[in-house]
Amino acid sequence: GQARKLRAMLESAVDAIITIDGKGIITTVNPAAARLFGYPQEAFLGKNVHFLMPEPYHSAHDGYIANYHSTGARKIIGIGREVTGRRQDGSTFPMHLAVSEFEMDGRVHFTGIIHDLSSQKSAEQALRHAN
Ligand code: HEM
Repeated sequence: GQARKLRAMLESAVDAIITIDGKGIITTVNPAAARLFGYPQEAFLGKNVHFLMPEPYHSAHDGYIANYHSTGARKIIGIGREVTGRRQDGSTFPMHLAVSEFEMDGRVHFTGIIHDLSSQKSAEQALRHAN
């Protein structure tokens, strides 16, 4: 059925896919996200998504979401942005973040799709030094 196909898509996706509720609490996560950030999938659930980012984002992210709820101004939703993620071992990496919004049971949720840019960035740097 449809649900099985959706699950297979989520499980096999190359990019990390994370959903959060309106307060930033993680409700679903796929295997690619677990691989990218270095935590087991269960470790994400129920945590605030800000545990995946370094400062200053870490302290500011609840405010970013609250600001969106109160003003409706979209800084990333439907636009995307290159930001910095933080792995379990404390190392940071460049990532492209796409965010979309959906409603479930009358409440707002968000989906984040994260594409790891670290190999692209190091290739770019290698090219620059080769010139
Ligand atoms: C907004 C950073 C992950 C959901 C933002 C903004 C930044 C940011 C810089 C915009 C602040 C502004 O200019 O006002 C990050 C970083 C992440 C991350 C560094 C690294 C892991 C996520 C994920 C989701 C998410 C995975 C969703 C599952 C949102 C939402 C907003 C937001 C809903 C407010 C709406 C908007 O600005 O369009 N985040 N974010 N973020 N982020 Fe994140």
